[in-house]
Amino acid sequence: MPFSSVHPVEYIRRWQDDYTRFRRDLHAHPELGFEEHRTAQRISERLTALGIEHHTGIGKTGIVAVIRGQATSPHSIGLRADMDALSMQEEGDRAHASTVPGRMHGCGHDGHATMLLACAHYLQETRRFAGTVYLIFQPAEEGRGGGKAMLADGLFERFPAERLFALHNWPGLPVGKVAVHPGPVMAACDRIVIDIEGCGGHGAHPHLTVDPVLVAGHIITAVQSIVARNISPLDHAVVSLCGVQAGNMDAMNVIPRTAHLVGTVRTFLPETRHWIEARLRELVTAIAAGFGAKVKLRYEQVDPATCNDAQQARFAARVAAQLFGEENVIHDLEPSMGAEDFSFMLQKKPGAYLRLGQSNGEGDEQGGRFLHNSRYDFNDAIIPYGAGLLAGLVEAGLPLIEKR
Ligand code: NI
Repeated sequence: MPFSSVHPVEYIRRWQDDYTRFRRDLHAHPELGFEEHRTAQRISERLTALGIEHHTGIGKTGIVAVIRGQATSPHSIGLRADMDALSMQEEGDRAHASTVPGRMHGCGHDGHATMLLACAHYLQETRRFAGTVYLIFQPAEEGRGGGKAMLADGLFERFPAERLFALHNWPGLPVGKVAVHPGPVMAACDRIVIDIEGCGGHGAHPHLTVDPVLVAGHIITAVQSIVARNISPLDHAVVSLCGVQAGNMDAMNVIPRTAHLVGTVRTFLPETRHWIEARLRELVTAIAAGFGAKVKLRYEQVDPATCNDAQQARFAARVAAQLFGEENVIHDLEPSMGAEDFSFMLQKKPGAYLRLGQSNGEGDEQGGRFLHNSRYDFNDAIIPYGAGLLAGLVEAGLPLIEKR
């Protein structure tokens, strides 16, 4: 058992108050993707104080810290945390609430960065592993391409981690539980913009117009047939048109010239993703043509699906069971239709994405709230769990004494 002498969770728990203060300071000063200057500065100051080698400015505001174990070995592990906030207004009256209007750590990335820092602290003090650990503080996870930016900046050429792990706090699970499984965990996320062009005119003389609002209505209804009638019922996919814009609300008798729709597509399998894009193009083009309108579909692939390597997921589950007990490891939590840009890193290296419980049970007003809820808050009680779990992956994955 690798944790017989010191249990990483118990070791890190001694620093609970200090890291709680650190996390709440980040929470009070949220920064959007690629603007995490203060956040990166705070992390860098801590790493410097701990004597940990680190490199800043990777993928604009990202940081990579490097810790070498007691024994040398060619093997290495990368641990990744995100650190950006969201464009949303925090509600509630907690003392460490956001001090920046319209900005909020509504997904707990303040907690993720803090847990990775506490893990670095532990690994630097104990160094009970052989080889190298790369601690990756990633900017701009929330749809701004931070994972991609770090890769484009030579992340794995400069810091060649053999395998990767990351975790996300999960309000749907109680504190002390961990979920990990092989295969897809988070969905691929794409954006769609549909621009319809007709011919405007008087609402009393519709026969002299090509009404783009009517075309939009038909498109809205028809695209729902893609998931219902073109995708296997055993597969999972979502097509949501979330925004409609046409005409002027003060002009009740004017048929506008244009109408616009925006939406999102979520899938797990690459073939499903391509099939939905193809079907969308066919449907949208045919419907517009049928009404004599013109249409343009912009389909932007944002994040691929986050897929866990089978071997690494099983390894992570074993480590979690050693740390927290087998009864606290969930092997079949259903994947989320949300997206995660750790997926870009997992396309390059085998690894796993874990979900860490953060709810104090039913009625938990903060930690149990959904991610991106305006009253959500990261639960500081899980800092030792997350940091200890990441450290445990290193100690078990890069053992000091090779098993025979
Ligand atoms: Ni998140």
